[in-house]
Amino acid sequence: MAIERTLAIIKPDAVGRGLAGDIIKRIEGAGLRVRAMRLMRLGRAQAEAFYEVHKARPFYGSLCEYMSSGPVVVIALEADGAIARWRELMGATDPVKAAPGTIRKEFGMNVEQNATHGSDAPETAAREVAFFFSSLDIVA
Ligand code: CDP
Ligand code: MG
Repeated sequence: MAIERTLAIIKPDAVGRGLAGDIIKRIEGAGLRVRAMRLMRLGRAQAEAFYEVHKARPFYGSLCEYMSSGPVVVIALEADGAIARWRELMGATDPVKAAPGTIRKEFGMNVEQNATHGSDAPETAAREVAFFFSSLDIVA
């Protein structure tokens, strides 16, 4: 595997329930290194831009409303194979279908409010990390 960067977001449902610390502990426990991190609230337009790839999907409007409904924690992660490893730790999109022990299984509320985001490929990871962080924010 190669050293990769990926974007993690602790979504509003999880931050709102005080789960950010638990989720960061799992990230660190899995050997994924935090290279940049910020607590912030997305504006509606920022959420729409971030999820632009899903613009045509029926859940897009509701998703953007939800993602701008409260604070999120955005994190740039780095590790060997970070993209797949973070997705594995999160579990499937729908918490009902997520494997036991995964973050979405344990913390997700439903298919929309599913606790965390993770980039799905090298190209999207590069775009998504750059969406939130400049090169100066990333700690070597
Ligand atoms: O986040 P992930 O890559 O697993 O799933 P996605 O297909 O890229 O969808 C992005 C996000 O849209 C999900 O994480 C959910 O928050 C939301 N979503 C939804 O509300 N309803 C669906 N049927 C699918 C996704
Ligand atoms: Mg996705």
